[in-house]
Amino acid sequence: MNMIEVKNLTKKFGEITAVDNLTFQVAEGEVFGLLGPNGAGKTTTIRMLCCLISRTSGDARIAGYQLGNGADSLAIRKLIGLVPDNVGLYEELSAYENLDYYGKLYECPEAQRKERIEYFLKMLELWDKKDAPVSDFSKGMKQKVAIARALIHDPRLLFFDEPTANLDPESARVVREFILKLKKEGKTIFINTHNLDEAQRICDRIGILKTKLLTVNSPEELEKRVWGSRTAIQVEKMNNRILAAVKKLKPKSLSVEENRIILTLADPQRENPDFVQAVISAGGRIQYVTELTAGLEETYLKVIEETK
Ligand SMILES: Nc1ncnc2c1ncn2[C@@H]1O[C@H](COP(=O)(O)OP(=O)(O)OP(=O)(O)O)[C@@H](O)[C@H]1O
Ligand SMILES: [Mg+2]
Repeated sequence: MNMIEVKNLTKKFGEITAVDNLTFQVAEGEVFGLLGPNGAGKTTTIRMLCCLISRTSGDARIAGYQLGNGADSLAIRKLIGLVPDNVGLYEELSAYENLDYYGKLYECPEAQRKERIEYFLKMLELWDKKDAPVSDFSKGMKQKVAIARALIHDPRLLFFDEPTANLDPESARVVREFILKLKKEGKTIFINTHNLDEAQRICDRIGILKTKLLTVNSPEELEKRVWGSRTAIQVEKMNNRILAAVKKLKPKSLSVEENRIILTLADPQRENPDFVQAVISAGGRIQYVTELTAGLEETYLKVIEETK
């Protein structure tokens, strides 16, 4: 079943089109990431899907419930949890009180509330500080409380708007692992992120958004589609004889960076040995042969560039 189904979803703020005609699906149990530059419409998309703002046109369904339909909105709110980009906690209340308050709002029974609050605060390494007012917390600690808050009513679908933006590398890792754990429990996760490495590590599929949805793909496919893999042959000393020998084998592309030859090949595993042989026969002394794959960062910039 698709947990999220979006069709031609559009949001305008006056003259500005913030989100233009999005169509995509997210399967139950999937981790779906939305990547895009500032102002791309990521937060706007999440806000629409969480029933916080209305859409201008198009359709969306969450677990079969229709967005913007009064009766369905309530059902949608019950089955989703949101970690927003600005965490907005009650500063004068403690971490525990914040979570307890939300639990009550969602009508979680007291015993379940207690159990879940303890579980999450321990998990996120905040149990020691449970009684301190949130105003004394660092940004990262507040972020963690917001994560616990989003989970208190045991939602099936979780939205994270840049969940690790304020976190140090260690806390970011805790949060990422936590997200993967939620996935293992069968939750569906929708995440906005600027962190390309993060998207690559935790997402099953990534959509690249810049007002319009430019592409949706697995991290691996995205990388391959835009770049493919390349072979780098590094020699002790580059010369024209080596280059001529390599050109003779007709690689799909060839560039030279100092003493490295960078090749794109149709079938690298079959062709690499021939290229190595050619370099050696031309008198080249090979120091390294390496596979180069583009990081998601390069891929992402390239997709954005191509659609400018
Ligand atoms: N309430 C609003 N009123 C008017 N314009 C808005 C409003 N909210 C967002 N926008 C505009 O919509 C566009 C998309 O904004 P949005 O916050 O969704 O981007 P984003 O991808 O989340 O960016 P960031 O990476 O900076 O968080 C921007 O041009 C923004 O100025
Ligand atoms: Mg945003």
